[in-house]
Amino acid sequence: MKILAFETSCDDTAVAVVEDGNAVLSSVRMTQAEHSNYGGVVPEIAARLHSENWETTLKKALKESSCTIKDIDYIACTQGPGLQTSLLTGTTAASFLSLLHQKPLIPVHHVYGHICANFLERNLDKIKFPALVLTVSGGHTQMHLWLSSTDIQLLGTTLDDAAGEAFDKVAKMLGLGYPGGPLVSKYGEKGDRRSIELPKIYLKKDSLDFSFSGLKASVYRLLETRSEEVDEAFISNVCASFEYTVGKIFEKKVERVLDRFPEIKQVHFTGGVSANTYLKGVLTTLCSKNNCEFLTPKNIEYSTDNAAMIGAAAFQLVKNNPKIAKIQHIDAQSRLNLGEFLDHHREAVKN
Ligand code: KG4
Ligand code: ZN
Repeated sequence: MKILAFETSCDDTAVAVVEDGNAVLSSVRMTQAEHSNYGGVVPEIAARLHSENWETTLKKALKESSCTIKDIDYIACTQGPGLQTSLLTGTTAASFLSLLHQKPLIPVHHVYGHICANFLERNLDKIKFPALVLTVSGGHTQMHLWLSSTDIQLLGTTLDDAAGEAFDKVAKMLGLGYPGGPLVSKYGEKGDRRSIELPKIYLKKDSLDFSFSGLKASVYRLLETRSEEVDEAFISNVCASFEYTVGKIFEKKVERVLDRFPEIKQVHFTGGVSANTYLKGVLTTLCSKNNCEFLTPKNIEYSTDNAAMIGAAAFQLVKNNPKIAKIQHIDAQSRLNLGEFLDHHREAVKN
C-alpha cells in the first residue's frame, strides 16, 4: 500500500511516499531559510513559501519514489495542530489531489505523526505496547502511554514553553541563530556540563508535566548579570549546562512513568529535539538501567518535521479503520487535540 503524504504544519514543506507503513520510497523537505533572518518562524513568510514550493516538492517526491500519482493508494496530510496558514497549503493540495484523482484522503494529527516516526525503516512488529512516548519539538513536550497503534493516553505535557522552544530561545539569547537546537548541541559538546547550576524544575512530587520557562528565564538572568565577556568558552558552558538540565528533567519524568507503569518495556523519543545526541545518550543509559528498550527515529530526518512520519501514521489509521479514508476535502485545524482526534477515529470505527 503506497501513501503520498504532505506535512506543512510549520516552516518546512515536506512530501513523501511511504509503502506499507514503514518503507520510505521518498522523503523530500524544502526548508525555509528565510526565517533565520528573524530568529523565528514568521507565519506570513511560511505561508508564502509553502504555496510557492509545494508543487516542486510533490514532483520531486514522486520522481524519487519512481511513482506516478496512479501508483498511489491513499493521500495523507497533516490536518493540525500548527500554523493555520501553513497547514492550509498541505490540506488544500492533498484535498485537491484527492478530488481530482479520486484517491481517498487520510487526515493525520501532527503529534501522532511524530509518534509513528519510529515505525519508519523498522519492521512494524518492532514496536511493543505498552510503550512510553516522549515527544519533544518546537511546539510540544508531552509524554504518552501508547497502548495500541491508535490508542494513546496523555500522561503529561508542558505547562508553558516546549523544550524545543527553550532551545531556540537560549540560542537566540546567545546570538547563535535559528533553529537553535542543533547550534546549542554543537556548542554544548565543547562545554562543561556541570559548570553552571540551572534550575531543574520537576514540579510536584508525582507530576508528569513539564515547565521550561523558569529554565529559560534563568539563562536570561545569567546573561543579563554577566559582567565578563561572553566568549565562546562561556557560550559552550551555558549550552552544555542547559542540555544537562533538560536531560535531568527528562530522566526524572521518564523514571516517574516507569515506576508507575512497570509493564512498559519500550521508551520512544520523538520530535525535533530527539535529534539531540546528548539527550539520546542520557535516555539510552536510563533505559538500559531500567531494562527497557530505547527507540528513536532511525534517521535524524525523521525526528524533525517530515512527511514520511505522516505516511506512517496514516497507514496505522487506515489499517485500523479503512472507512476513515475518503475522497474528500478536509479543513486545516490549528488547534487539533490528539485525544479528541483519536477518539473521533475510534468512534468512526464503531459506526
Ligand atoms: O518537530 P520539529 O521539527 O517541529 C515542530 O513540530 O516544532 O521540532 C523543531 C524543534 C526546534 O525547536 C529545534 O530547535 C529542535 O526541534 N531541534 C533540536 C535539535 N534539532 C532540532 N533540539 C535539540 N537538539 C537538536 N539537535
Ligand atoms: Zn513537529
